[in-house]
Amino acid sequence: MENNQLMRPEIEDGVEENLEASIRPKLLEEYIGQSKVKENMKIYIEAAKKRGEQLDHVLLYGPPGLGKTTLANIIANEMNSNIKVTSGPAIEKAGDLAALLTNMNENDVIFIDEIHRLNKNVEEILYPALEDFTLDIVIGKGPTAKSIRIDLPKFTLIGATTKAGSLSTPLRDRFGIVNRLELYNIDDLKSIVKRTSQILGVNIDDKSAEEIARRSRGTPRIANRLLKRVRDYAIVFSDNEIDIKLTKIALNRLEIDELGLDEIDRRILETMIEKYKGKPVGIDALATTIGEEVDTLEDVYEPYLIQIGFIARTTRGRIPLPAAYSHMGYNIEE
Ligand SMILES: Nc1ncnc2c1ncn2[C@@H]1O[C@H](COP(=O)(O)OP(=O)(O)OP(=O)(O)O)[C@@H](O)[C@H]1O
Ligand SMILES: [Mg+2]
Repeated sequence: MENNQLMRPEIEDGVEENLEASIRPKLLEEYIGQSKVKENMKIYIEAAKKRGEQLDHVLLYGPPGLGKTTLANIIANEMNSNIKVTSGPAIEKAGDLAALLTNMNENDVIFIDEIHRLNKNVEEILYPALEDFTLDIVIGKGPTAKSIRIDLPKFTLIGATTKAGSLSTPLRDRFGIVNRLELYNIDDLKSIVKRTSQILGVNIDDKSAEEIARRSRGTPRIANRLLKRVRDYAIVFSDNEIDIKLTKIALNRLEIDELGLDEIDRRILETMIEKYKGKPVGIDALATTIGEEVDTLEDVYEPYLIQIGFIARTTRGRIPLPAAYSHMGYNIEE
């Protein structure tokens, strides 16, 4: 992975990073942070099991790298269900979805990642499947076409998306359980770093875990990634012991700022402060000026800059806040 991709949570880690499976928590109890979501899911799962029924359909949304895929797998695991994993763009035709649904067993979980990218025709045949567990399919074409109805096993759909706003209302309304994942706080990220270190078999002290947490943009995927890079230094220089000195050297060489800001964050802040003089700016204008996609700015950059109090959303647009001016070395009096 290139250095400039290290801080991009939307980029998934490659096969070389094949530790993914062992790092992923498998039980709700091992899933760190997101306490509200966890509490709710625990109750819904327990209730469904007591009723002896499948879990209601679940929508998970929030910025990339926060653990939607992980949580979907945990839910299936806790329900003792099999999970089938697919994604919105992978289901091209209505027939693909029909094949998937008719091959399921009672109580199975189907996980559709990037569900906002489902194609319209596919989405429409999903509605009755979610609501009544039936599938209406049309066989043949023209005047001889026949519509037949198939009963499906009772299943649970878990949908994941970074853009809940792009989901059509009828689709959204069919999820009985809707969970929004939030960026993680430093303490939770620290626990994640410690947990992963244990799995990787590397010793890390408290300060170093905190340092990595601080630079991870509220995102477990980035925290684990940075930890792996620091571990490389530890393997070479310090017999698998991570201390703060080594951590700082490694992270600084990777050019990761103390707050985890990268070049694009800095460009965003600079543009807002200099070009727009701190006045409210719309996301489209900002994206054009910087030369980034609106989606990337909204899903990846903005949530973190808001979390650390660098920018705020107003009805008239985004504005930079005093903390951003001082971090970027500007005088606030201007
Ligand atoms: N709550 C958590 N506790 C411990 N580790 C976590 C937690 N959430 C995520 N992780 C770790 O973070 C990494 C990213 O998680 P995951 O792939 O589930 O993210 P995601 O939300 O599905 O991202 P994307 O939106 O990009 O698909 C994984 O390595 C996972 O093990
Ligand atoms: Mg995922």
